[in-house]
Amino acid sequence: MLPKNSMKIAVVGSGYVGLVAAACLAELGHELICVDNDREKLFALKRGEVPIHEEFLPELLAKHRGKRLVFSDSIENAVRASDAVFIAVGTPPAEDGYADLSYVECVAREIGNAIHEYKVVIEKSTVPVNTSDCIRRTLILNGVPTSSFDVVSNPEFLREGTAVSDFLYPDRIVVGADTARAATLLRKIYEPLTSGRYYKEEDAIPGPDGAQIPPPLIMTSTRSAELIKHASNAFLAMKISFINAVATICEHVGADVAQVCGGIGADSRIGSRFLSPGIGYGGSCFPKDLAAFRAVAHDCGYEFRLLDEVIRINEDQRARFLRKIRTALWTLKGKKLAVLGLAFKGGTDDIRESPAVSIVNCLLKEGCEVVAYDPAAAARAAEVLPQKVTFAESAYDAAATADALLILTDWEEFTALDLDRLHAKLKYPIIIDGRNLFDPDVMSEHGFLYFSVGRPDAVPKRDIARARKAG
Ligand code: UGA
Repeated sequence: MLPKNSMKIAVVGSGYVGLVAAACLAELGHELICVDNDREKLFALKRGEVPIHEEFLPELLAKHRGKRLVFSDSIENAVRASDAVFIAVGTPPAEDGYADLSYVECVAREIGNAIHEYKVVIEKSTVPVNTSDCIRRTLILNGVPTSSFDVVSNPEFLREGTAVSDFLYPDRIVVGADTARAATLLRKIYEPLTSGRYYKEEDAIPGPDGAQIPPPLIMTSTRSAELIKHASNAFLAMKISFINAVATICEHVGADVAQVCGGIGADSRIGSRFLSPGIGYGGSCFPKDLAAFRAVAHDCGYEFRLLDEVIRINEDQRARFLRKIRTALWTLKGKKLAVLGLAFKGGTDDIRESPAVSIVNCLLKEGCEVVAYDPAAAARAAEVLPQKVTFAESAYDAAATADALLILTDWEEFTALDLDRLHAKLKYPIIIDGRNLFDPDVMSEHGFLYFSVGRPDAVPKRDIARARKAG
C-alpha cells in the first residue's frame, strides 16, 4: 500500500544523481518513473542490475523495482503520469569551461511536448544560474501555457559512494521556487524527511553519526538555489586547495599538516571536514563545476580569480606528487610500481577526472611499469588506461616484487592492510602515500621508507637489510 501524501514523480536521467534520487524518492513512499534513452541501461536496470557502485543502492532498487519504481524510455508517458518531473541528465563540461546544457534543453523540449496539465519541472542536474529561466523559455516556446508549469531548482549535494545516505540524511534540502504552488508541492515531496517520519520507520536506511534529523528545508528563489549549488562546490574545492597549499608549507618547514588540520578544524567556524590534503580533488563534479562557475562569473563581468588559484593549486598538487615520487625513487625508467587505487576517491568505481589515473598515465610516460589494484574501479580504469598496465586481484599481489608502492585513492580497506605482509612482498619497502592513510611513526616501526603529503618523511626504525634477511 502506498503511504499517504504519496506523489507521482518522473525522474529523467538514470545516472548517479537520477538513479539515486529515484530510488530514494521511492523509499520515501512516492511512485517513481525513471526515464532514460539508453535502452541497454534500461534493460539492465529492469533485469535487476545495479550499474554503479553505491552503498545501499542495491537494497533500495531490490526493494522498490517494479513496485514503486519503474523504468521507461518514454519522457512523454512519464510526464503525463506524474505531478512533478525531475531533470537529472548530464551537464558535461564544454571546451570553454561552460557546462554543456544541450541534454537539459532537449529534455525540456520533450517535457514541453508532453505537458497537458499543471506540472512542476525540477532541475536536479547541476546547472549554472539562470538555467531555470532557459527551461521556462523552452517550455513556453513549445506551446506550454505559463499557468501549466513552474520551474524549480532543487540542487543535490550527494557525494558519490555515500549518495543514498546523503540523500536521505542531508545537511539541508534547498528548494528554489518562485511560486507558492510549486513550493507547496516540493514541501510535500520532502515531507517524509522534514517531518522526521521516515527516520521512525523500522526498515529505514541507517544514517551516519551526527546526522541532522529532521533536516532543514531552505526555501529560496530559483536563482539563489542555482547559485547555492555552484558556490557550495566551489567553497569545498577551495578548502581542499587551501589545505594542500598549507601542506606544501608544512613540508618546507618540517611541520605536520595533520596536526595543523586538527588545530584549524577545531575552530567551529572552519570545521575539520574537507581539510584532508592529498593529490588534489577530482571526480565529475568539482573540476567541471569550478570551471562552469568561473565562466558564469566571467559572463557577469566578474573575474573570479580566487577560483583560478583553487584550480591551479589543484593541478600543481599532482605535479608535486610526481616530483615526490621522483625524489623517493631517484630514477623512474624501468621501475615497477604497485598502485593502490584508481577511483577519484574511495567508495566509488568512478574514475572521471581521477587524479590517480592522471598520475598513472604520467608514470607510464616516464617508462614505469604499473601493476594496479582498485577494489571497484579496475574495470572502468582498464577502459581508459594503456594496455600495458596490469591489474592485480589484491593489494598484496600488486605489491609483489614492486620497487615501491603508491597509494592514490583513499579506500578504507587500504587502511586495514597487513603492513608486515606488504613489507615482505615489496622488493624495496618504499611507500609513497598520496592520501595520508597511515601514521608515519607506525610505518617507521614497520620498517618502511614512507612519504606522504605535508608530513615529515618516515625512515625505517629497523635496519632494512637485516629485517629482510630475518623475514
Ligand atoms: C561533490 C560534493 O562533495 C557533493 O556535495 C556534490 O553533490 C557533488 O560533488 C556534486 O556536485 O554532484 P563528489 O564529487 O562525489 O561530491 O566527491 P567528494 O567527496 O566531494 O570528493 C571530491 C574530490 O575531492 C575527491 O577527489 C576527493 O578525494 C577530494 N577530497 C575531498 C580531498 O582531496 N580532500 C578532502 O578533504 C575531501
